[in-house]
Amino acid sequence: MSKTSKRTIFSGVQPSGTLHIGNYLGAISNWVKMQDEYNSIFCVVDYHAITVKQDPKELSRNILDVVKIYMASGISAGDGSAPGGSPEKSVIFQQSDVSAHTELAWILNCAAARVSDLNKMTQFKDKAGEEKENVSVGLYDYPILMAADILLYDTDLVPVGEDQKQHVELARVLARRFNSQYGKVFKVPGVEIKKEGARIMALDDPAKKMSKSASPASYIALTDTPDVAAKKIMRAVTDSGYDIKYDKKNKPAISNLLTIYSLITGEDIKKLEIKCERECSGYGDFKKKVAEALGEFLETFQKKYNSFEDDEVREILKNGAEKVRPVAEETLFMVKHKLGII
Ligand code: TYM
Repeated sequence: MSKTSKRTIFSGVQPSGTLHIGNYLGAISNWVKMQDEYNSIFCVVDYHAITVKQDPKELSRNILDVVKIYMASGISAGDGSAPGGSPEKSVIFQQSDVSAHTELAWILNCAAARVSDLNKMTQFKDKAGEEKENVSVGLYDYPILMAADILLYDTDLVPVGEDQKQHVELARVLARRFNSQYGKVFKVPGVEIKKEGARIMALDDPAKKMSKSASPASYIALTDTPDVAAKKIMRAVTDSGYDIKYDKKNKPAISNLLTIYSLITGEDIKKLEIKCERECSGYGDFKKKVAEALGEFLETFQKKYNSFEDDEVREILKNGAEKVRPVAEETLFMVKHKLGII
């Protein structure tokens, strides 16, 4: 990866199950918008995925599928050589292909992170729940690996959904702590969170975020057929009353559907409220409109998604790792030097 004057963004998704419209609207669609302006690195974070048990066959399938989802969303990482091939704007790679990630994570574990840092992480508390003592050590340590991902590349900004904000803040703390104890190596990264869509909520419970680990009725998978997606939208919970108004406090379910509708169509929420007031006689009509818009989006998305071959994707991952590895290794070398290991 050649050094450019552009600022760098780094982000990633776990290949741990079906990706949903929350992942797309809250994070990946933002990467697509940013990739022209930034030196852009997008990772498939397989070592994060194994913090919980994965079926090996499914995991290797999911790794390739996440790349297809990045590319169907509009991330350009091909070399442009295929007929109609997209120009390369971003780098996509697989975390485990660059061993500097796990090496730096171990070093940060020892030289910067404290147990008290990890005890504050709300996502661990949510994910571990009652099983706190039985989950893997990796699940607890996961934010340190995420910090290593970010800090290896002199990252300026990390575009993520709201649920990852606390983890990026920890990466900032660790960067500062290491720099102050051993001398400056790391850039302190910023976090980039979208104004709208940073927290898409579950269709069956608007108090919870849309999540791939919950029941399929709660999310629209990016691979759901338009029919399946329409059924899920029609069954989505609604609020009391009849008005189709954006009001997160009193109408969380309708506000969530309006957010999805607005981000999928690119129409302003205010305009959609007026349109729906004019054209819908109730929540049923409104949901039909949302389902129709989603159906159109999914159809186009999936055409692109299905157009990529596994071998093409493997090649993209291999090239991506070759590009980022020297950058990661240079940072790791400096870190080891500061510690007196090299
Ligand atoms: P992951 O795989 O859980 O989610 C990927 C991205 O999708 C966003 N997201 C959402 N956004 C809006 N509404 C939702 N309901 C929703 N659900 C998920 C997430 O915020 C995220 O941006 N730890 C990370 C992966 C990671 C990473 C990194 C990210 C590993 N290393 C370094 C950035 C930089 C994770 O598990 O994301």
